Amino acid sequence: MQIIKEIPSQDWQAQYSESDQQAALEALENGQIILFPALTFALGLHENKFLTPAIADLTAKNISYNPDTQHVRCAHCSEHDYRELRHFLERFSASATTLITHLLSHYTPALETGRTSFRPVEISGRPSSYRKDDTRLHVDAFPATPNHGKRILRVFTNINPEGQPRVWRVGEPFQTVAEQFLPAIAPQPFGKATLLQALRLTKTIRSQYDHLMLQIHDRMKANLAYQRGAEQCEIHFAPGSTWIVLTDQVSHAAMSGQHVLEQTFYLPVAAMLNPQLSPLRTLEKMTGKRLARN
Ligand SMILES: [Fe+2]
Repeated sequence: MQIIKEIPSQDWQAQYSESDQQAALEALENGQIILFPALTFALGLHENKFLTPAIADLTAKNISYNPDTQHVRCAHCSEHDYRELRHFLERFSASATTLITHLLSHYTPALETGRTSFRPVEISGRPSSYRKDDTRLHVDAFPATPNHGKRILRVFTNINPEGQPRVWRVGEPFQTVAEQFLPAIAPQPFGKATLLQALRLTKTIRSQYDHLMLQIHDRMKANLAYQRGAEQCEIHFAPGSTWIVLTDQVSHAAMSGQHVLEQTFYLPVAAMLNPQLSPLRTLEKMTGKRLARN
């Protein structure tokens, strides 16, 4: 299977025919990345000043914007710049939302908007624990925010001003990843999910699905032989390009690059064109158990 499906559009507001939308939905749900090689997010002159790692808190790798609270986290700047930075992230969030609702209108009624993030720090060479090391192949799963099987749909755009690509490795299909790691994973111990929530280590109850996905995420990253030996390819996302990917399904590693914008959306499994292709239904088929209420 080809990993990339290209769409030549250069306009965030473009409309797409029914057949183009159908093809995009099928590509995404089958684990392809939709790439717009010439869909550029143009910065205003006053926004170029944000293209520096100094804009992020020392300990943070991302600046994030919460569309619900309109609050920007982990930024290090004056009050005036903070307002401009927030507007910059809101502008990107609105563009990404328009793109998704036009290209994937089947998802629109059920789509939830998550955080917007700006990643101004070079990824390569950044020290971190193996679990947080996104230069290792992984599928996305979050320890503190269980999602009960909801899909993680992300829009990325490379706004690097110096011609530097965002370099990813992309690994095996989700089913192949799960076949490799699932057999050794024990179910979540009885009572652990309640305890984690009571201790406020998770925002909601961690379902069996979330437990398995976190274990797969951690075991992929911990296994250096797997990192080297798994079937994979390298993709260079050029500056001025935009891509859409279901990151809970597509095994990925961000190897190098600086200055990327990203918008997260969440989608209930039932809203997919083919829910059977979701990680939730795949793991349920493999375990023979119901793993989350979704
Ligand atoms: Fe990731």
